[in-house]
Amino acid sequence: MLFSTYLPLVILCVITIFIIPSFSLNPSTISFIESFSPLFGYKNVKPSDDGKSVQISMNQWSTSGSGFVSRYAYNHGMFTASIKLPDNNYSAGVVVTFYAQNSDYYRDEIDFEFLGHIAGEEWVLQTNLYGNGSIHRGREERYTLPFDPSTDFHDYGILWNTDWVVFFVDDLAIREVPNVEGMGGDFPSKPMYMYGTIWDGSDWATHKGEYRVDFQQGPFVTGYTKFNIDGCQIDASQSLQTECRRYDMTPDGISENERRRMHEYRAQYMTYSYCYDTDRYPTSLPECEVIGQDMQPIAPPIMVSGASRRFR
Ligand SMILES: *[C@@H]1O[C@H](CO)[C@@H](O)[C@H](O)[C@H]1NC(C)=O
Ligand SMILES: *[C@@H]1O[C@H](CO)[C@@H](O)[C@H](O)[C@H]1NC(C)=O
Repeated sequence: MLFSTYLPLVILCVITIFIIPSFSLNPSTISFIESFSPLFGYKNVKPSDDGKSVQISMNQWSTSGSGFVSRYAYNHGMFTASIKLPDNNYSAGVVVTFYAQNSDYYRDEIDFEFLGHIAGEEWVLQTNLYGNGSIHRGREERYTLPFDPSTDFHDYGILWNTDWVVFFVDDLAIREVPNVEGMGGDFPSKPMYMYGTIWDGSDWATHKGEYRVDFQQGPFVTGYTKFNIDGCQIDASQSLQTECRRYDMTPDGISENERRRMHEYRAQYMTYSYCYDTDRYPTSLPECEVIGQDMQPIAPPIMVSGASRRFR
């Protein structure tokens, strides 16, 4: 049995079942100022005049960066934003994120994290998730992208329901994590807020911290627009689901066609997966068996240097 936890959702939610064979990102967008608040580095959180978009930045006067958080928490949903990364020639150590998280002691989290780049090399995108405080069992994957994410806006989406977490880049699924029985609480299960941040990750982000943030190259400015949060919103008391739209999928998850495209992308662009890191996990984590059999390239991807292969 892959899936275990339908029942609580059925009880809690007023369910509208949407069978969506193929997901389109940004079906309708929401405004930044209505849906988010500044979180830190307030001076460097700059909404656009129409309130729909935002720029957040980090510079030599505010080296801790800036960020924003959604006004509400959500229990499942599809969360997307269109993001343009800092276009500085050198942005090593600069981490840009779009993620879901709660601040429970036993925390859940689903992440997109961009890990900066050094001049002439490609940006590295990392995805990860934690459930119920499983922070010592990171499930990181890293990839390069078939485009330069600092020249244009691209859509980044997180689909989260009881059965799956799926990461999308534009309309391409790049990773799916099935809620296999063995994951237990490691699969994110509690309401989360959405965040966007930019911060100094010098100690680890670019080539494992070899290249640090150079504030002389700043300011580092990243833009977010076309926000869409379509999920089960939790009200202020955190007790009542005021809106609950379930992102149903067929039991097999994304379509075969989407999975084939995902497989092609991963074979070409994935540079690291925890599922193949046997030093770290001598016994691979439960979902890896499922993922490994039919969703990832047979030959284990290994770290490649970020040497420019596709642009610049
Ligand atoms: C960035 O690099 C390009 C190509 O090397 C160079 O032409 C340009 O002047 C650089 N820009 C900055 C702001 O350093
Ligand atoms: C989360 O972990 C705590 C401590 O191990 C446990 O008591 C709780 O039942 C877990 N919750 C879920 C949803 O797995």
